[in-house]
Amino acid sequence: MELSLVLTTLTIVTFISTVTSQSPIQNFVSCFSKFHEPSHSPITQVIYTPNNKTFSTILNQHIRNKRFKLGSTPKPLAIITAKSASDVQATVKCAKSNNIQIRIRSSGHDFEGYSYVSDVPFIILDMFLINGINIDIHNEVAWVESGATIGKLYYTISKTSEFYAFPAGICYSLCAGGHFSGGGYGPLTRKFGLAADNIVDAKIVDVNGKILDRKAMGEDLFWAITGGGGASFGVILSWKIKLVKIPNLVTVFDVTKTLEEGAIDLVYKWQLIASKMPDELFIIAKPRVVKNAKDGKNVVQVHFVGLFVGTNEKLLPLINKNFPELGLKSSDCHQLPWVRSTLIWNGIPTEANLKALLDEPKANETVYVKAQSDILMKPIPKEGIKAIFQKMIEDDTFFMYWIPYGGIMNKISTSAKPFPNRKGILFMIQYSNYWREDTPGTIEREINFSRSLFKFMTPYVSNSPRGAIMNYRDADIGANLPSNVTKMEISKVYGIKYFKDNFGRLVNAKTKVDPDNFFRYEQSIPTKLK
Ligand SMILES: Cc1cc2nc3c(=O)[nH]c(=O)nc-3n(C[C@H](O)[C@H](O)[C@H](O)COP(=O)(O)OP(=O)(O)OC[C@H]3O[C@@H](n4cnc5c(N)ncnc54)[C@H](O)[C@@H]3O)c2cc1C
Ligand SMILES: *[C@@H]1O[C@H](CO)[C@@H](O)[C@H](O)[C@H]1NC(C)=O
Ligand SMILES: *[C@@H]1O[C@H](CO)[C@@H](O)[C@H](O)[C@H]1NC(C)=O
Ligand SMILES: *[C@@H]1O[C@H](CO)[C@@H](O)[C@H](O)[C@H]1NC(C)=O
Ligand SMILES: *[C@@H]1O[C@H](CO)[C@@H](O)[C@H](O)[C@H]1NC(C)=O
Repeated sequence: MELSLVLTTLTIVTFISTVTSQSPIQNFVSCFSKFHEPSHSPITQVIYTPNNKTFSTILNQHIRNKRFKLGSTPKPLAIITAKSASDVQATVKCAKSNNIQIRIRSSGHDFEGYSYVSDVPFIILDMFLINGINIDIHNEVAWVESGATIGKLYYTISKTSEFYAFPAGICYSLCAGGHFSGGGYGPLTRKFGLAADNIVDAKIVDVNGKILDRKAMGEDLFWAITGGGGASFGVILSWKIKLVKIPNLVTVFDVTKTLEEGAIDLVYKWQLIASKMPDELFIIAKPRVVKNAKDGKNVVQVHFVGLFVGTNEKLLPLINKNFPELGLKSSDCHQLPWVRSTLIWNGIPTEANLKALLDEPKANETVYVKAQSDILMKPIPKEGIKAIFQKMIEDDTFFMYWIPYGGIMNKISTSAKPFPNRKGILFMIQYSNYWREDTPGTIEREINFSRSLFKFMTPYVSNSPRGAIMNYRDADIGANLPSNVTKMEISKVYGIKYFKDNFGRLVNAKTKVDPDNFFRYEQSIPTKLK
């Protein structure tokens, strides 16, 4: 009896230790160690496993959505904080040979957490330490590594020259890795296009662990990663971008209107003119819910926030002619260097220290987020706007960005890049629901509200397909679950919404460079059926 117990225990212990020593993650670590050059940095500062004290700090540092920071959220088997291209190569080779899924994370701003969560065993390849920026002002280009934030890019450009800029997004803590590879829309897009339209070269680690530049990867793959999302194709190490010329002063304004001040008529008119303005003018309309000072009731308020690539003297007549209802006054307008204009979208005073652009969002201030997007080809009638605002006030954590189109976007072909939304679009909507409340049921209630508002919008927005913007990631439009099996029937649904006719070419590029579908996640590009 006693002996058999000892034997059983021994067997179990041996069994466990055999299994552990042969587990894919153990094999991954020993494989990685073979490639790793300790002269660069000790391996203990590159691989973090759950029993390391700092594991959760590293994990949480770049989780920007509290929905995926819960006890129940699946955790990675390991996090690799790559410090060099060779760490990235080793991660890909060793993950592939051990059949472990990887999630590639630069900033962790993905709205559905696809850069750091998976429903099947996985590791995170964290790119935040690969964040260099090298500006060659003479040739008007720069190399930007994946983990560099766009805030750092804007800051670094401005330190080199006040006559250059780069057209990318609003939130300064987004990273070049995912943001550029999904398109990258921002206040300079009407004039210069997307971030992806201004990329001239790139370095990617492919499924074999090889580093390819544009010439080596070929035009199909280069096309695919400049708008089709990088994570279906490989790991982007860096981008070579074309800087754009800008005057040393631009003009910004932020005017708020309540419903009593005619916000509905203004938003209606905004729809008619925002996409027709000169390319230099970008006016966003941002409806949000606030508490009425008088009775504490929820009301909608609309911010009209504008950037004009030019002076105040030119801006005012332009607005007075096309949008006099806004009542823009000279005192609403601020002339400043372009880099300072990037602060206004983040709610930072434009006179603040520019180093604010280098700040990391605080991990302890992460909120819950649900985002969605829509494309609008025709104006919403006034009664429609009124009904939408009426619906919005049911939830004071909800707001939208109505983002104007037109300008150069009308002139770029829909197939120039995977991002298909170009000609004839009036504006897109980014729906945002940001909440802090932790009480049970809140997540479900808030997501339900976002979904019901999204459904409410159906008659007003594009259809067949109802277009969506990949960077405003939304799992509701289709997702492969489990994420390690990519089904064409499912992928087609989100693929066509995000990429329309460009989806087929993305599938071809994917099939060619990653035929065994190693780089996969819930909304990745599928390979062609064999
Ligand atoms: C507050 C906020 C504001 C935003 N504002 C804008 C805006 O103004 N304009 C706009 O266009 N978008 C905007 N977005 C959306 C943003 O562009 C996307 O979330 C984008 O995917 C972020 O990329 P990332 O690398 O920063 O994030 P991550 O979460 O790190 O990555 C996002 C996706 O890219 C992949 N990825 C990341 N790095 C790499 C890499 N090196 N190689 C291959 N794949 C990689 C990830 O695996 C994931 O699929 C905003 C998002 C937030 C949260
Ligand atoms: C992680 O844990 C291992 C063993 O548990 C240890 O050798 C290593 O130093 C730790 N690394 C860090 C960065 O804490
Ligand atoms: C996908 O993951 C599940 C769960 O870990 C596993 O059982 C299954 O074998 C995997 N399938 C493939 C094709 O890797
Ligand atoms: C987060 O931490 C910072 C210090 O790093 C502190 O100033 C701030 O108040 C904290 N915020 C919250 C919401 O706890
Ligand atoms: C959310 O919506 C689902 C489906 O419509 C419903 O069953 C559920 O009760 C809702 N939950 C909350 C908290 O409102």
